[in-house]
Amino acid sequence: MTLMVPRRVEPPASRDNNGDMSDSLDDLWSLAGRRALVTGASRGIGLAITRALCERGAEVRMVARGRERLAAAAAELASAGFEVQPWAADITDPDSRSAMLEAFDGPLDILVNNAGHNIRKPALDYSESELRGILETNLVAGFELARAAHPALKASGSASLVNVSSVAGLTHLRTGAPYAMSKAAMNQMTRNLAAEWAADGIRVNAVAPWYIDTPLARQVLDDADFLAEVLARTPLRRIGRPEEAAAAVTFLCLPGAGYITGQTLAVDGGFSTFGF
Ligand SMILES: NC(=O)c1ccc[n+]([C@@H]2O[C@H](COP(=O)([O-])OP(=O)(O)OC[C@H]3O[C@@H](n4cnc5c(N)ncnc54)[C@H](OP(=O)(O)O)[C@@H]3O)[C@@H](O)[C@H]2O)c1
Repeated sequence: MTLMVPRRVEPPASRDNNGDMSDSLDDLWSLAGRRALVTGASRGIGLAITRALCERGAEVRMVARGRERLAAAAAELASAGFEVQPWAADITDPDSRSAMLEAFDGPLDILVNNAGHNIRKPALDYSESELRGILETNLVAGFELARAAHPALKASGSASLVNVSSVAGLTHLRTGAPYAMSKAAMNQMTRNLAAEWAADGIRVNAVAPWYIDTPLARQVLDDADFLAEVLARTPLRRIGRPEEAAAAVTFLCLPGAGYITGQTLAVDGGFSTFGF
């Protein structure tokens, strides 16, 4: 049998969401000169996303509530030579959201809605304020931030909005219903905004992780029996690393992902496709 080796054809590099072409393939994998805002950036997945975006060349405004941890995380990245600015804010507070965007003068190329919150309980045990608190952080704040950032994202001409969702938004998990509801709605928000804002040069995608080793997940993964159950349901038989969730987010921000919008990408070791 003769093996046909196709001649390697350099694909044209796309510099923006309109498919305009540039000469260099490297451009597909670069975020040089891009300005990003990442919520929940002081630890866990958000911190890994910040580092990954910086490593591709972006300048990142890091948002979280706790000033000390945020400042320490930003200082560590700055000392590694990355361009970061810490911005202490509660994303559920409308005034804080406005201030954070006003201070960010000029176009915004990347917005990552990553900050999230959960309380695990049976559905009947949630108080209304607990339910509203989860929906407020995980869904309403991200939607409002995206809407408020729309002019700056549109001004970019080639913007990427990435929502950090969860496989809990795809199927039942033991996270509690409000968290799952918030993430399922986030997935639909991703599809709707992708369709509405495509004409404005804004791509909108989501990343849906299964268990990733962060302080949030450690609350349950420190239970050895629970961890064993999680691993038994994960074809790759391990917990994900923050860098792996961050890599998926970063990919969706790259010019190379310029024809991808409206998608929810599971970063889950195969969990969501694992039947019996
Ligand atoms: N880890 C997982 O296994 C997993 C799986 C699926 C999905 N996810 C999703 O991934 C995202 C990040 O999770 P993670 O595990 O990295 O969480 P984490 O370790 O708890 O970090 C959460 C980050 O969000 C910030 N934050 C929380 N509430 C905020 C608010 N109201 N305003 C501003 N910042 C806020 C926190 O800082 P402050 O507390 O100082 O504000 C922190 O920087 C979440 O949306 C989560 O639902 C995680």
